[in-house]
Amino acid sequence: MSINVSGVPFVIGHRGAAGLAPENTLISLRRARLEGAKWVEFDVKLSSDGTAVLFHDDTLERTTTGRGRVKDCHIDTIRKLEAGAWFGASFAGTRVPTFAESIQTLADEGLGANVEIKPCPGEARRTAEVVCRMIAETWSDSVPGPVISSFDRDAMAVARDMLPDAARAMLFSGLPDDWKRVVDELKCTSVHASNRHVTKAVVAQVNEAGLPLRIYTVNDPARAETLREWGVSAVFTDRPDLIKD
Ligand code: G3P
Ligand code: MG
Repeated sequence: MSINVSGVPFVIGHRGAAGLAPENTLISLRRARLEGAKWVEFDVKLSSDGTAVLFHDDTLERTTTGRGRVKDCHIDTIRKLEAGAWFGASFAGTRVPTFAESIQTLADEGLGANVEIKPCPGEARRTAEVVCRMIAETWSDSVPGPVISSFDRDAMAVARDMLPDAARAMLFSGLPDDWKRVVDELKCTSVHASNRHVTKAVVAQVNEAGLPLRIYTVNDPARAETLREWGVSAVFTDRPDLIKD
């Protein structure tokens, strides 16, 4: 039996629907919804002026026409970057969205979300503070409250202190030996971990501790089914067209 809380479904679109549209963009969030996903995950970090934007990498090159570090780039510059053409010509003109715009899109689409705090190096506390404040002040009542997650323990400590009642997940690649101590200290309500390292025994261990385990990134429907049978509560997928609730 898997453990599920706060209505989080089995399928969560990863970076929106990263296999079908440019990751971490509004069109990617909408595409996930179009494919039937009820929840999405995306990554949030800060521009040089402290604006929260949806972005995965620390640097601009892979997914935009920009160069250099996101933390050194002003939002006015980021807004002008091309963020869709790298994925496909039909996506040309796509922009990097702000977190504020994304919160509005979630409300418009009726989407729940896992907000991953993905700070640039040295920016963990500031990023978490901005993200948590925006969630507290602007999250729509019309959609479920978010699950807040991060690989960064400082970011999760800020989330614990600023939003003690929110669902919060510690993100790991493989589970470290002291995973339970970390989760307890940060008062996390679930665990997110990589598909690369998960085993049936790991799932059992987390579930026996009374915590839901969600696994990234799963694009193979057969693997998703195996994980579900093991007791995994949800999978993050780039392909919500292939993996269904
Ligand atoms: O939040 C799950 C997953 O997105 C974590 O890895 O690198 O895709 O952000 P990454
Ligand atoms: Mg992520």
